[in-house]
Amino acid sequence: MARVFNFSAGPSTLPESVLKKAAEEMLDYRLKGLSVMEMSHRSDDYVAIFENARSLLRELLNLPETHEVLFLQGGASLQFAMVPLNLMKKFKRAAYTNTGVWAKKAIAEAKKYGEILCVGDSSDKNFSYIPETDWENIPKDIDYVHITSNNTIYGTTYHAWPDTGDIPLVVDMSSNILSESMDVSKADLIYAGAQKNIGPSGVTVVIIRKSLLGYADEKAPSLLNYQKHVEAGSMMNTPPCYNIYMAGLVFEWIKEHGGPSAMGEYNRKKAALLYETIDKSKTFSSAVNKKDRSLMNVPFVIGDAKREKAFIDEAEKKGLVNLKGHRSVGGMRASIYNAMPIEGVQALVEMMLNFEK
Ligand SMILES: Cc1ncc(COP(=O)(O)O)c(C=O)c1O
Repeated sequence: MARVFNFSAGPSTLPESVLKKAAEEMLDYRLKGLSVMEMSHRSDDYVAIFENARSLLRELLNLPETHEVLFLQGGASLQFAMVPLNLMKKFKRAAYTNTGVWAKKAIAEAKKYGEILCVGDSSDKNFSYIPETDWENIPKDIDYVHITSNNTIYGTTYHAWPDTGDIPLVVDMSSNILSESMDVSKADLIYAGAQKNIGPSGVTVVIIRKSLLGYADEKAPSLLNYQKHVEAGSMMNTPPCYNIYMAGLVFEWIKEHGGPSAMGEYNRKKAALLYETIDKSKTFSSAVNKKDRSLMNVPFVIGDAKREKAFIDEAEKKGLVNLKGHRSVGGMRASIYNAMPIEGVQALVEMMLNFEK
C-alpha cells in the first residue's frame, strides 16, 4: 500500500526512512537478539541508545553546558503544571501570553500555584496574531515568563523570542522544536511533546537551565521535580524507552539532512508554496496575520462549511489526509512538520488549484 501524505497536527508524519529502520531493527536490534522494547533500561545497550539520543539532541540544538536535557512522560500538558511547581519559587507570580488553547491550558494549570499576569492576549481575533508586549516594562517581581512559540491550532509563531532580561523565559516549543536554526539557549526552560518534530507521542523533551534547578515546591511529587530527574539522569523510573529510541532515529535523520538550519530552509520553501497559493486564491484564504505566520501549521478556510467538507473528502481520496482544521478555527489545516516532504505540499497545492477551477 502506498503511503499517504499525512497533514496531521500530531501525532504526525514521521520520516519514511526512520520507520523502515525501526521496522528492520524491530525483532533483532543490531544482532542483540531482542527488540529495543524488550531491553532493560539499565542495560549497556539501552543506555547507549539513550545517551546517543540525548547527545544528538544537544548537538542539533547547539546546547551549551548551562542547560540539562530530560526525557520525561506526561506530554507537554504535564509541563503546564511542572513549570509552576518548580519555578514559582520567590514571588509566586508569573507572566503568560494568551495565544490560544494550549497557552490557556498552561495558564489555567499555573493559576493553581500562584498569581498569573497576562502580558499579551490575542483572543479578541480568535488568536490569529501574536500580541505585542512591552517586554521591558512588564513587572520585575515575577518568577518567569511563559510563551507558546508556535500555536499549533491557529498557525501563529513568535518569530523572535522576547528578551526578558534576568527573568527566566519558559517556551512551549511542542510544535516547532528543531524546525529551523534558533538560539534555544536564550530560553531558560523549553518543553516539547514529541509527536510533531521528534517522534511518536509518549516522551516529552525538557531543556532546563541548571541554575533553575532545586527550587521545586517541597510537596511536589518526586516525579514532578526537575532536580530529581536530573540527578537520576531521566531514569528515576522506567523511561519511555522505545519512544526515546525512535526520537534518536529522528535526530539522526535530521543530522543527516543538515540539521535544523537545513530543515528551516526546506520548511520555508514548503510554507511559501502553500502561503503563495492561498494568497493568490479567490477560494481559499488565511485569517492569520502575515508576519506571524507559522512554518509548521497552515490553517486556511473557504468560508463555506459544505465546500470545506467537499475539499477535505476529495483530498482524502487523493491520499492527502488529516486536513480538517481544529474545531475552534474550522476549515482546513495543513501541518507541514520537518518530515512532510515537499512533494506532499506540491500535491496539496495542485489539488487546491484544481478545486478552485
Ligand atoms: C503547542 C502545544 N502545546 C501543548 C500541547 C499538548 O501536548 P500533549 O498532548 O503532549 O500534552 C500541544 C498538542 O498539540 C501543542 O500543540
